[in-house]
Amino acid sequence: FNVPVAKNEPVRTYAPGSDERKKLQAKLAEMRSVEMELPMVIGGNEVTTDRRKRIAPPHDHKHTLGYFSEGDASHVQMAIDAALEARKEWANMGWQHRAAIFLKAADLIAGPYRDKMNAATMLGQGKNAFQAEIDSACEIIDFLRFGVKCMTEIYEIQPESAAGIWNYNEYRPLEGFVFALTPFNFTAIAGNLPSAPAMMGNVVVWKPSNTAVYSAAVIMEVLREAGLPAGVVNLVHVSGPVAGDVIFNHAEFAGIHFTGSTEVFQRIWKTIGENIYKYKSYPRIVGETGGKDFIFADPTADPQSLAVAMLRGAFEYQGQKCSAASRVYVPESIWDEVKERFGKMLATVKMGPVEDFTNFVNAVIDEKSFDKIAAYIDGAKKSPDAEVIFGGGCDKSVGYFVEPTVILAKKPDYVTMVEEIFGPVLTVFVYEDEKMDETMKVLDKTSIYALTGAIFSQNRYNIEKMAKFLENSAGNFYINDKPTGAVVGQQPFGGSRGSGTNDKAGSVFNLLRWTSIRTVKETF
Ligand code: SER
Repeated sequence: FNVPVAKNEPVRTYAPGSDERKKLQAKLAEMRSVEMELPMVIGGNEVTTDRRKRIAPPHDHKHTLGYFSEGDASHVQMAIDAALEARKEWANMGWQHRAAIFLKAADLIAGPYRDKMNAATMLGQGKNAFQAEIDSACEIIDFLRFGVKCMTEIYEIQPESAAGIWNYNEYRPLEGFVFALTPFNFTAIAGNLPSAPAMMGNVVVWKPSNTAVYSAAVIMEVLREAGLPAGVVNLVHVSGPVAGDVIFNHAEFAGIHFTGSTEVFQRIWKTIGENIYKYKSYPRIVGETGGKDFIFADPTADPQSLAVAMLRGAFEYQGQKCSAASRVYVPESIWDEVKERFGKMLATVKMGPVEDFTNFVNAVIDEKSFDKIAAYIDGAKKSPDAEVIFGGGCDKSVGYFVEPTVILAKKPDYVTMVEEIFGPVLTVFVYEDEKMDETMKVLDKTSIYALTGAIFSQNRYNIEKMAKFLENSAGNFYINDKPTGAVVGQQPFGGSRGSGTNDKAGSVFNLLRWTSIRTVKETF
């Protein structure tokens, strides 16, 4: 198949004084100053309602960025009808034409839409410029370009044919529509979840998180400008239960592409199970859910690399990456040095609004999230089993700011070593060097999630032992590196246990879920 070679989009650095920084700052100022009205997009039409919901930046919640229109069950029904109507042509369109649309969308984001995508993600979701760049520019572009490459790789998987017969696989889209339910924490994931099924010829009803509506509107704008026909992806803003009620009762519900909480995913799975007799086909259920991602160091670990991984892994984007390091196991013999190096670096970290590019840490997404994180920190301050050794301050008067916080746990199963917090909180457990195996056992036992994990060691026997021992504790496993920042095309992303179906975003494994193969045998 002759498709343009997929290469990872180079990351811009936004160096002080550079033109790219000035342009992005100008875009931020412009987007801050106009109040946006964000409609739903159903069957190619912009649909507004009189239920207008306010959008505010997490770091400045009194400021109004704009409003989005909230719909109801009738809008979900309209979106399904529009999708099924669009399917008649889209499902039969040649793959080159589908590919061209998504490749053009990637080019639009790489060029004219880059600043708008990044500014919407910065203002709406509280990412600093560098975190926005690797997400709402590079990662989404990579998803689109590598998606096209993976699609053609799938089409090349064909069966053997014996003499006198010809066998071939036809990669048909699923019969019905796909529901994409997307998170706030990665604009790239929000863009990929509707795009991946659509690329494979499916039609989609897309419900983004209410806290990422601004960037979702820009993604939709890009897809439309790239030539995506009306009705192929339909953007609705409704509450989860309202959407679910219509979608999971529909005979043509063909699959869900989900990233969000474990609890919601489990509820959805159960509902789908209860409704199974209503559907034409067994729906595809693809989800990435929670995480309690770890770093495990042995006594030979390099203290500086470990300290950097802890800082970046735990606190970039305020620990709100599904891959964020949130618990670390350090041997007693190196802890003092690690702590000192870590503390020195942390002292240089600035927290504040995204408009100031020197702020490494920004606000967490919303008040609900802030309150949950603050409660864990408060609990640690009061607990005899824990001690807050760095940070611990929380202030929501202007924005939802939580200081990067480190909790020292006295027991390896202390609550913040086990439960997902989704904020800038790292818990450290210091183990006695000779209890390494025992500590690994506790780690594995307390891993109800298995998304990402990292080990630090300079001893090859230990690396092998740790990798083997922890083989089911993480779908993305890092040796001597932080557990965040998987790159599309390089580290296919996803995990098992409570973390999801491990269908590996941005790879053939994921795209295979969005096709229903007809195998043809013709006898000559
Ligand atoms: N690429 C992100 C990470 O690994 C997840 O989408 O942090």
